[in-house]
Amino acid sequence: MHRQLAHLRHVMSPLDLSVEELDKIMDLAADMEAKPEKYAHAAERLKLAALFYEPSTRTRLSFETAMLNLGGQVIGFHSATSSSATKGESVADTVRVAAQFADIVAMRHPKEGAPMVAASVSPVPVINAGDGGHQHPTQTLADLMTIRTCKGRLSDMTVGICGDLKFGRTVHSLISALVRYPNVKFVLISPEELQLPSYVKEDVLKANNIDYVEKIRLEEALPDLDILYMTRVQKERFFNEDDYVRMKDFYVLNREKLQAAKKDMYVLHPLPRVNEIAVDVDDDPRAAYFNQVYWGMYMRMALMYTLLELEVKEC
Ligand code: CP
Repeated sequence: MHRQLAHLRHVMSPLDLSVEELDKIMDLAADMEAKPEKYAHAAERLKLAALFYEPSTRTRLSFETAMLNLGGQVIGFHSATSSSATKGESVADTVRVAAQFADIVAMRHPKEGAPMVAASVSPVPVINAGDGGHQHPTQTLADLMTIRTCKGRLSDMTVGICGDLKFGRTVHSLISALVRYPNVKFVLISPEELQLPSYVKEDVLKANNIDYVEKIRLEEALPDLDILYMTRVQKERFFNEDDYVRMKDFYVLNREKLQAAKKDMYVLHPLPRVNEIAVDVDDDPRAAYFNQVYWGMYMRMALMYTLLELEVKEC
């Protein structure tokens, strides 16, 4: 029998959390980092089902670590081939089965919308851990916390987003979240073929009167940015290998190029990286991509704690 909740909530995109809730989750993650022992038994006897139909390193490991750090346990699978999906079982049936055993589900799937199908039938909270080229809300939680920690704010900044803006689900989620903070402007840097989909431009940027420009050259954009969010060209979403090969090294940030950036412009990347950030950037104090991994675990802890309506007593 899973935990009875006052409100069953699912997180499919950052828009499922209000700005106030995002701020609260960030504050909670900071407290969890500062006082891990306070939360070490919060989810005792509760289980996370990590249903990963598509490869993952960070998201799966950080979800699993987050549940273990809350004192809970983890079940699940890490590829479609090791589940009954290979025998034709639907996402809806799979989540109904997982919910017999678990109190919360994190699902990654190559098809856009699959976690929504799961949420529509699930009696326990479902968190989208990345669906195709659509959304990746928990990566956004990691991104927001990293930006807040580095810059001390989430407002009043120019954010450059560079690379595969078409298929990069982390980009779509991050833009949806950041447009809700005051005076955030975007510089969208991509080859023409990999521009931001029009549904994000129209429904998110234009609908919210957000200031943005599109550029092809990273060097032209760099000096004006407060944050540079680099992304990988998403090989797995291309229909044609030749197109991928042509575009995969379109952008390579290295130490030399970084000289043109502000001294307090932080470089983020959801990872994994391929060639788009040279390793000679890693030692630069502005390289924040491993901070994102670090905060991602605490933010997933804080999110599950919130959705499971957990409580701890103050000591
Ligand atoms: N950033 C991210 O989603 O990484 P993984 O694919 O390794 O989970």
